[in-house]
Amino acid sequence: MKYHVKLNEELVKGAKIAILPGDPGRVEKTAKFISPKAQFLASNREYTSWMTEANGKNILVCSTGIGGPSLSIAVEELAGLGIKAFIRIGTTGAIQPFIKIPSLIITTGAVRLDGASKHYAPVEYPAVADFDITSALIEGAKKTGINFYKGITASSDTFYPGQERYDTYSKYVIKDFQGSLSEWQKLHVLNFEMESATLFTIANAFGLKAGCISSVIVNRTQNETPDDKVLAQAEQNLASAVNYALSILTINE
Ligand code: URA
Repeated sequence: MKYHVKLNEELVKGAKIAILPGDPGRVEKTAKFISPKAQFLASNREYTSWMTEANGKNILVCSTGIGGPSLSIAVEELAGLGIKAFIRIGTTGAIQPFIKIPSLIITTGAVRLDGASKHYAPVEYPAVADFDITSALIEGAKKTGINFYKGITASSDTFYPGQERYDTYSKYVIKDFQGSLSEWQKLHVLNFEMESATLFTIANAFGLKAGCISSVIVNRTQNETPDDKVLAQAEQNLASAVNYALSILTINE
């Protein structure tokens, strides 16, 4: 039995693909969207798991909590149980003014503003998405009919200073991050989120595959906080994009 996710090989039943939302509250809904036959497996701390099915294959849905450190534990333990492909679904803040709400962003590579990935590979090692998973996610995004973008994501350990937010307790951002948002904009980075850098680095370092699709809940060039309606719609858009991606994705070991 894996220590944190509380899963073993018997429960994972040969699944090769895991869908990874951050929020445990999104696991059941996502699993049932993919198949009404979905079943609860386990729940411990931030890790809630359900088994669902697509194309006659078992697909694990397991939440990771927020950020790289907790995601790294899930990926370690799930890889040890035979998962070969990881698809992160989550929410994101866009930083380019042209990105609309709602829309989806498919991350092709991540700026490693996290700490956890450095425990797996040196900073020169790229945090890049798997091509086949990314292609399937692009097709899935097309099916939703909403705007989507693909490109580079800044993936930060913190929601506040690392994403240069000043609407905070101290209202202070350390010098390293002052001006970082406009720097990323100029370097054509699309968005901020908190998990893709760790996920892509670990997956590549392990010889496994990973992809990431995010739903834009806020555009930082316009405001800082999302509203609840946008959040509910984001969940739905992600589930339908990933559902279609699963129907066309094959993972060869
Ligand atoms: N997730 C983030 O990390 N940043 C945002 O702005 C929204 C969601």
